[in-house]
Amino acid sequence: MLILANVAGTVAQTLPEIEVQYGTDLQLFDRLCVLVFAIEYAARMWVAPEHPLLRGLRPARARLRFAQTPMMVIDAAAFVPFVLELMFPGVAYVRLTRLVRFLKLARYSPALGTIGRVLSAERRALLACIIIIAGVMLAAAAAMYAVEGEIQPEHLGDMPKAIWWSAAMLAKIGGEWLQPMTALGRLIATITVMLGIFCFALPVAIIGRGFYEEIRRRDFVVTFAMAARVPLFSRLDAASISDLVAILKARTVHAGTVIIRKGEQGDAMYLIASGAVEVDAPEGKVRLEEGAFFGEMALLSRERRTASVTAIKSTDLLVLDSEDFHRIIDRNPEIGAQVRAVAQARKGPLLH
Ligand code: CMP
Repeated sequence: MLILANVAGTVAQTLPEIEVQYGTDLQLFDRLCVLVFAIEYAARMWVAPEHPLLRGLRPARARLRFAQTPMMVIDAAAFVPFVLELMFPGVAYVRLTRLVRFLKLARYSPALGTIGRVLSAERRALLACIIIIAGVMLAAAAAMYAVEGEIQPEHLGDMPKAIWWSAAMLAKIGGEWLQPMTALGRLIATITVMLGIFCFALPVAIIGRGFYEEIRRRDFVVTFAMAARVPLFSRLDAASISDLVAILKARTVHAGTVIIRKGEQGDAMYLIASGAVEVDAPEGKVRLEEGAFFGEMALLSRERRTASVTAIKSTDLLVLDSEDFHRIIDRNPEIGAQVRAVAQARKGPLLH
């Protein structure tokens, strides 16, 4: 709120009537913001040695390292306007440097980091787009200059003017002055507008696909880490776990969610990556913790669920559907034997 208020104040202060009426108040407010930002900065630096990634370092080194992180550099940059204003008092434009504080908002938007990673990962494709756009712009400008340069010298009389024309055409800015005078000119304008749509759609598609990839990658990493923690898969190598991750679905359930209902048809087995569940078994309630699995009995016997299972806290599950379950135990007899042994032991008490 303070960052937004500070930026809004800076923008408002460029209106002469506001400057006259509230100038001193806004100036005071800005000093107050700087004070709060300074306290925040100092507090962050103070606790920096507690940061998990910096814990091994000596406090001074940890703080130095921390000060170099992008967000801390932005926080430090937010003080520069204050210093500049002291150095050049009364210069109105210097005040606009306060707008750099807008970047401080980045801390509160984790998705911004994702955009940064996507842009960085797709930089080659995006550079290619810029080259294509520049090429189209130059070609359209050259064609228009050749065709109408002499007819409309005020708009197309030289290449810089013609480039501005084609840039406006590609970006569909519009305006009377863009009108071609000749039939050939209109043809060039039509093609330029169509190419403009293509040129701007291309980076959108690239960034969109990049986002999808990034999210899929993150899901994969999360599921992989969860699967690697499950003892049932502990003998598998990384490549096999990674194959497994492709078929496992991660699911988070809240406390109290009934995951399995007794008597239902079995369609999946569940592995507990974190949290705990309670099995309402005939001989009493059984608590299953991180690393355990359940829901295997109905899949093995192809009969109905033997008990209801409820989450007793927020629980991360990996779900293996029936078809994949049978494929995995066929392909990995060791896992099959382990699952059957557990199912047998669970069935045991029922026989007494
Ligand atoms: P399923 O019958 O498919 O669905 C209910 C699940 O609860 C069952 O598979 C087992 O995984 C689990 N379960 C049933 N009885 C017990 C028990 N006595 N101890 C631990 N888990 C059980």
